[in-house]
Amino acid sequence: MRQRIARKIVLAALLPMMAWAGNVKSPNGNIELKFSVDNTGRPVYEMTYKGKAVIKPSFLGLELAKDKHASMGMRETDLMDGFAIAKEETSEFDETWQPVWGETKDIRNHYNELAVTLQKTWNERRTTRNMDVQLEPQQHRREIIIRFRVYDDGIGFRYEFPQQNDLNYFIIKEERSEFAMAGDHMAWWLPGDYDTQEQMTQQTKLSEIRSRMKEAVNWDNSSVAVFSETGVQTSLQMKSDDGLYINIHEAACQDYATMHLELVDAETKHLSEKLMGGSNAYTPDPKPSVWPLPKPLTFVSHLTPDATGLKGAMQTPCETPWRTVMVSDDARDMLSNNLILNLNEPCKIEDTSWIHPTKYCGVWWEMIVGKSNWHYTNDFPSIKLDQIDWSSVKPHGRHAANNEKVKRYIDFAAKNGLDEVLVEGWNVGWEDWANMWKRDVFDFVTPYPDFDIKMLNDYAHSKGVKLLMHHETSSSTQNYERHIKEAYELMNKYGYDAVKTGYVGDIIPRGDHHYSQSMNNHYLYVIKEAAKHHIMVNSHEATRPTGLCRTWPNLVGGESARGTEYEAFGGSNPDHTCILPFTRLQGGPMDYTPGIFVTKLNTWSDNTSWARITIAGSLALYLTMYSPLQMAADLPEHYEQFDDAFQFIRDVACDWDDSKYLEAEPGDYITVARKAKGTDNWFIGGKCDENGHKTAIKLDFLDKGRKYDCTIYADAKDAHYETNPQAYTITKKVVTAKDVLKLTEAPGGGFAVSLIAK
Ligand code: NOJ
Ligand code: CA
Repeated sequence: MRQRIARKIVLAALLPMMAWAGNVKSPNGNIELKFSVDNTGRPVYEMTYKGKAVIKPSFLGLELAKDKHASMGMRETDLMDGFAIAKEETSEFDETWQPVWGETKDIRNHYNELAVTLQKTWNERRTTRNMDVQLEPQQHRREIIIRFRVYDDGIGFRYEFPQQNDLNYFIIKEERSEFAMAGDHMAWWLPGDYDTQEQMTQQTKLSEIRSRMKEAVNWDNSSVAVFSETGVQTSLQMKSDDGLYINIHEAACQDYATMHLELVDAETKHLSEKLMGGSNAYTPDPKPSVWPLPKPLTFVSHLTPDATGLKGAMQTPCETPWRTVMVSDDARDMLSNNLILNLNEPCKIEDTSWIHPTKYCGVWWEMIVGKSNWHYTNDFPSIKLDQIDWSSVKPHGRHAANNEKVKRYIDFAAKNGLDEVLVEGWNVGWEDWANMWKRDVFDFVTPYPDFDIKMLNDYAHSKGVKLLMHHETSSSTQNYERHIKEAYELMNKYGYDAVKTGYVGDIIPRGDHHYSQSMNNHYLYVIKEAAKHHIMVNSHEATRPTGLCRTWPNLVGGESARGTEYEAFGGSNPDHTCILPFTRLQGGPMDYTPGIFVTKLNTWSDNTSWARITIAGSLALYLTMYSPLQMAADLPEHYEQFDDAFQFIRDVACDWDDSKYLEAEPGDYITVARKAKGTDNWFIGGKCDENGHKTAIKLDFLDKGRKYDCTIYADAKDAHYETNPQAYTITKKVVTAKDVLKLTEAPGGGFAVSLIAK
């Protein structure tokens, strides 16, 4: 008996100091979330997975800025401390929904919820000009809700601000959501940046982020604004020493700034208030925070400022995006996880019949490589759009978007079953388009003289192909908004149903950043305007996605990471595509523009860069880099040289009833099998890093007793991404669910398999 009492006392002493007010478990009990307020009224939470710490006790809250419009005498008060719990509500939700396009036909949204209403009250001294009159202090009360959703594979939480007398308009100085890590995890990270994600992922321990930061930044990018030596982007993928995969990101970011994470380490003196540098030189310098730093190895949210240096202008009722933490002891769950889509609102487009998965080619790669140009003439040092008579200017002869070439691409698309042809450089303005701080840079409606917009669209339609529109905004956002209606009417008139937008260079209005609240509002405005015109959107250089494609499924793709274009700008490491599905793709599909078959660019141009991938590896990307929008990016003549391998691109679907991640390890390899929408056919892709990979794929997911025609596109024995990228084999056989495919992926290679049901 005595012994028992002694043990109890020891256990009590080991419990956290916090007395948890509420807790909620995931439906299968693996994840537990606890919440409370501490003795100063600061909200705090912790998260465990199968009993292991994922997020150690961490504070939540928002610092507000004094609003110059606040009513006389009203002191702004932070939403950081002084809270008491007014109400706690728990509930369960379980629903299965069908995406307009996706990796699976059905998506289950199953979670337990904890919604905590927090109240803070304070007295405000009231003053009057009449010294003889003493006014009673006025009592104020503010109420916020912190809502947690706990899934079997992660959590989401957000702040909600109901409309109330003492909280109508407020300005966010900084959100202070903390994520205290339980160890010095391995992390796959990008430098935190207000303007670009087109960087190579770094793989280091958390404690090594600071020493790696400077060399991690590609300072040559067209718009760089790095804010801290320990600031990183989301989605951030981590792995703990004891085998937990942890991912932090956000969901449903709308009318709010994009979140970064700033790591507190042993050297951190205070959280960042200034930019470290980059092409966007504007340096806001708000007053330092008064809040104490959390313990080392804690991430603190860091929002993207707008041109004022502040982080958000809010009007209640409103809420923040969801902050997400996904966790599993199996890396494949990081890829099959639907938590971010589930935390977004259901589809808001009633008739979605015009939204369709699309395979396309385009007048694009040859310009990226430098063999031809977007612009038409070299006659002018600069141009003013309304002052040029385009019919009389002298062409330089390397303008790619010309009638003859576009027809050649249309013929290629028609012959190979591709749906659309992207044409960049079709509209006037490319003579001085980038980084000039030029407001009126494009009008989006006037073609160059050698691009006959009517004839080319008619020609394409006569062959069952559509043209895909291109709107490079040069980040001159007001200019785009001014022209958008006419631009989309022009698209409707000629039968374009998809647009690739672009945001190269620093944002105009000057001082703003690509990921600020105002810019996020711009991107969403574009998506909504496009939806009104039945136009699908593929946005380059826009903010990283957070699952808004569930609500607006006309957002079919985006870039927001280092795409294939960088293979022409010095190259990306072979493991790049084994990381992106864990990071960038968490929030939505990427227009990665795969399919480079002639990887050594100097064999057909003056460009000495080369793509770090084998042909079989390129085919794998159509499976491993999920997107309903897939490009065959290389030139038609290059595909014609390797027509037997191109057969896979002709055959592969880009919309799926089911997906099974068979193997995965961040930065090493990913193997996935997908069942094509509305068919019994399966496709499998495997992609690996520079070390190669051996795999044995059990086909037990196929229908039992059924036969399939199987075609395997594999790296040849001596294939290698650097020395022998074009060596592949094509093997055909008949298989059943009992078979196992043993395959070897070359360094920087991969494989692709089609399984057509007999
Ligand atoms: C950058 C985009 O990523 C690329 O695809 C496009 O061709 C250029 N900008 C020009 O808009
Ligand atoms: Ca880009």
